[in-house]
Amino acid sequence: MGRFDGRVAVITGAARGIGFGTATRYAEEGASVAIVDLDETAATEAAAKLPLTEGAQAVGVGADVSDAASVDAAIERVVTELGGIHVLVNNAGITRDNLLFKMTEEDWDLVMGVHLKGAFLMTKAAQKHFVEQKYGKVVNISSISALGNRGQANYSAAKMGIQGFTRTLGIELGPFGINVNAVAPGFIATEMTDATAARLKMDVEEFRRLNAEANPVKRVGHPEDIAAAVTFLSSDEASYVTGQTLYVDGGISLGT
Ligand SMILES: NC(=O)c1ccc[n+]([C@@H]2O[C@H](COP(=O)([O-])OP(=O)(O)OC[C@H]3O[C@@H](n4cnc5c(N)ncnc54)[C@H](O)[C@@H]3O)[C@@H](O)[C@H]2O)c1
Repeated sequence: MGRFDGRVAVITGAARGIGFGTATRYAEEGASVAIVDLDETAATEAAAKLPLTEGAQAVGVGADVSDAASVDAAIERVVTELGGIHVLVNNAGITRDNLLFKMTEEDWDLVMGVHLKGAFLMTKAAQKHFVEQKYGKVVNISSISALGNRGQANYSAAKMGIQGFTRTLGIELGPFGINVNAVAPGFIATEMTDATAARLKMDVEEFRRLNAEANPVKRVGHPEDIAAAVTFLSSDEASYVTGQTLYVDGGISLGT
């Protein structure tokens, strides 16, 4: 018996990185999985790699989470092809880092569009089904950058916004059998942090080593670390937990 037998989990931005690691965990635990990502081919290829259990299915859906029509079509397609929706993980993300004086309006709008508007549109489209069936789980991906991070005014504002969004939906949707929580990752070794290393003109391994050294548990995080927290928060074991943000960061946000 897996914790997600008979459930359908939709994970955005899951063609790679944290999203793919999380999709893999849902598949291992019995769910049918929809991988939603910008590029349909990448999403379909990732879906084909999932370790599905017997009777479960996977689908890759090309969609831009910041576009309402694209989101509505994606959710309807998942419901038709996989027979429903029970779990939504709002994970799709981008960075457009710069100090405030160099940050463009486009940098601001793009980041807000994917993280905040994307989570809003996806959750709104899914909640219709969740309310009808009086069951649903939403996990939003925030970040330790919500607490403030030089060069990330746009990303930090979006990621703290995600926490307010999560708390509010915890209040609004609780009466309908829907739990809404957030996970705030610390440094996770993915293409996103590799791109940060490149921007800082640092070697990827050296960047990871320095981040591990600065962390109380002396290692960097991996997509599996986030997948474990996300699946717990969307499982029936966590049905009395809602509106919360769980920091999964090796303790770095505790300060020194
Ligand atoms: N890696 C980290 O250290 C870290 C730390 C804290 C939070 N996060 C957050 O975790 C999430 C996943 O990060 P990651 O490191 O796996 O990043 P990643 O760059 O490896 O993957 C992000 C995925 O999101 C997809 N995506 C981007 N814009 C999209 C859109 N408009 N519609 C649909 N899909 C879109 C990308 O195509 C990509 O597949 C993001 O929300 C990120 O902000 C990451």
